[in-house]
Amino acid sequence: METNKGLDYSTLHKLDSPANQLIRKSIWGDQDIGQQSFITPWYLDELIRKTGIKRDTYVLDIGSGVGGPAIYIAEKTGCRIMGIDISDVGVERARKFAKESSLSDRVTFHLGDAMEMPFPDSTFDLAISINVMNVFKDKIGLFQQVISVLKPNGIFALLSGTIDMPDDPEIIENMARGYLIPQYYDTVDGYKSKLKEAGFRILEVTEYVEDFRIQNKLWGDAYKKHYDAIVKEQGKENTDYHIIYFDTYLRLIDEGRAGNHLFISRKPGNFKNSKETHP
Ligand SMILES: C[S@@+](CC[C@H](N)C(=O)[O-])C[C@H]1O[C@@H](n2cnc3c(N)ncnc32)[C@H](O)[C@@H]1O
Repeated sequence: METNKGLDYSTLHKLDSPANQLIRKSIWGDQDIGQQSFITPWYLDELIRKTGIKRDTYVLDIGSGVGGPAIYIAEKTGCRIMGIDISDVGVERARKFAKESSLSDRVTFHLGDAMEMPFPDSTFDLAISINVMNVFKDKIGLFQQVISVLKPNGIFALLSGTIDMPDDPEIIENMARGYLIPQYYDTVDGYKSKLKEAGFRILEVTEYVEDFRIQNKLWGDAYKKHYDAIVKEQGKENTDYHIIYFDTYLRLIDEGRAGNHLFISRKPGNFKNSKETHP
């Protein structure tokens, strides 16, 4: 049966495992804030600056992982933030992080599926999502969920890998392999039109391709450098798939077919905010 879950991220969410420690150290070193994506703290500083998060902003983080980015944003701005993630291992770890950082009163993590938002309409000032979109097949459906839980004039800032996928079965398979599941990539124009179709007005689109290439290469290099330790923990098949995946991704970046884009859009003030309107 097809689910929204995508990769079982629980292996990666176990941050303290020996292989994950090696991977994280070689990718991020002292830039490790508990992220599980292609970002460094710099991206979050950019996000904070571009969206103007303040102490009284109520933020929803869609696919919050182990909570590192949400906690970083709350620490930097004093905002209130709710993370939602479908992985129990991730949410458990995120709650532990929040407790350790003594931000439990500002940061909350909900275990659930973002395709079925459990929050009342018009709850949040800002929704963010960091490198999560590939797991959603029905992106318009997801964006409709997001627009419902945003307040009128609320902002949605989503950072996502974008791919203009070549019509080549081998490349498509290689790109699915890293996660052992189908990945639902989209182009920049695809994201823009789907955001609009869900009712958003697009304010700004920023491409981060140079740094994205660096992040991507660091991930692939980490898998190669610590191959034996990763195989021991994650199995040979999974480790080999990841290497093929990152190599193929790098090739697509170099061919100008893949990038990482931040889409900032706004829910119109007069948007008819009812989940019943979304079939
Ligand atoms: C690549 S990780 C990114 C995590 C986090 N945004 C970060 O940057 O550290 C993708 C996350 O999306 C979560 N996810 C996948 N499907 C989901 C769904 N349907 N609803 C909520 N979260 C989901 C995964 O469990 C995983 O934690």
